[in-house]
Amino acid sequence: MSLSAGHAHRMRSVACQNGQLSVVAVTLGRMIRFDRVTKTYPGGTVAVDDLTLEVPRGRITVLVGPSGCGKTTSLRMVNRMIEPTSGTIYLDGVDTATIPPTELRRGIGYVIQQGGLFPHRTVEQNVMTVPRLLGWSTAKARERARELLEVVGLAPELGRRYPGQLSGGQQQRVGVARALAADPPVLLMDEPFSAVDPVVREGLQDELLTLQARLQKTILLVTHDIDEAVKLGNEVAVLRVGGRLAQVDPPARLLAEPADDFVASFVGRDRGYRSLAFQGAQVQIHPERAVRVGDALDGSGWQLVVDDAGRPLGWIDSDHEGIASADDLRLGGTLARQDGTLRAYLDAALSSPSRRGVVVDDDGVLVGIVRPAEVLEAIEAAGRAGAAGSREPA
Ligand SMILES: Nc1ncnc2c1ncn2[C@@H]1O[C@H](COP(=O)(O)OP(=O)(O)OP(=O)(O)O)[C@@H](O)[C@H]1O
Ligand SMILES: [Mg+2]
Repeated sequence: MSLSAGHAHRMRSVACQNGQLSVVAVTLGRMIRFDRVTKTYPGGTVAVDDLTLEVPRGRITVLVGPSGCGKTTSLRMVNRMIEPTSGTIYLDGVDTATIPPTELRRGIGYVIQQGGLFPHRTVEQNVMTVPRLLGWSTAKARERARELLEVVGLAPELGRRYPGQLSGGQQQRVGVARALAADPPVLLMDEPFSAVDPVVREGLQDELLTLQARLQKTILLVTHDIDEAVKLGNEVAVLRVGGRLAQVDPPARLLAEPADDFVASFVGRDRGYRSLAFQGAQVQIHPERAVRVGDALDGSGWQLVVDDAGRPLGWIDSDHEGIASADDLRLGGTLARQDGTLRAYLDAALSSPSRRGVVVDDDGVLVGIVRPAEVLEAIEAAGRAGAAGSREPA
């Protein structure tokens, strides 16, 4: 794929100049760096105030903050849609002010709120936009567009539709596909999922993380939603109104140690609970003897019912002996994955009618159960072991 080819080329050319050590420096090095960047608009509004921020290569950095705090302005200064009043933005160590905007934007995909698609072009033509501008043949650009629609999970026939004939979530995916079309190493995403309902948004967030695990782009993403920020960000930068950086840290640390009252109130009341999502768990998983529909119940209280493949279906309260009937099933709570976090285990335990949290493997097959008291013990143990470490890159 052209992606890895581009990356290899960059590493090779550096190796020729500087030798082996520099190759390591480049692959681990910072991709985008804001150095004391200020933007004052003509009316006198200081949108961004003395911003110094590093956006590491191959990671997701999230800019989060209340409306009007300068997020969009910060993002658009990276590809020079807006010019800073003072300060410098470096891309791979090069001052972006010295790179012609068209050239700069070739390496930077840009996803804007609401998808920002061209309404009078088909989905496929939308995705082909940048490759065509770069002079690719129609055939090659179309092939790339079809490949990308598949990457973002859209059926090929949707390529012939117009944006207005798609759902909000589908339009967002097209926006992501379009930004990826020329395979840029950097992606700027401005509230990419804000226009869709919470359920669709969660699905799109999960897909972005899956995609990123494969593509390893340098992503600067803007949102005003702190939950989205801590879910997606390897690093989260909190801006306050007036365009001042309040804190930048990995999500676990942001939740555990807000730098000041503004950050503490911005990350919200549930931050203790949410921070459990970043802590892997050493929790005892106990075997659970499950039954199938039609099996005999032993009258010993809550019994877990699984399907023929061993996947949990729900719980039956068997206070008397009888036969497990699908009609008596109480759909259980959330299922925790075997390699789950403390939050996943605690939620599974608390949402289960039996108070036994169901743990499954990657195929959704029952592994066993966790008990609330033991999850709480693990939480205390994790607390004693010190502040939560940072999450590994996605
Ligand atoms: N072209 C402009 N001229 C003058 N002021 C502007 C301009 N664009 C933005 N601003 C002001 O600069 C500040 C920052 O705007 P910006 O769009 O960067 O905020 P934001 O954090 O993206 O907000 P939102 O979450 O509402 O999208 C705001 O006070 C805004 O009114
Ligand atoms: Mg904005």
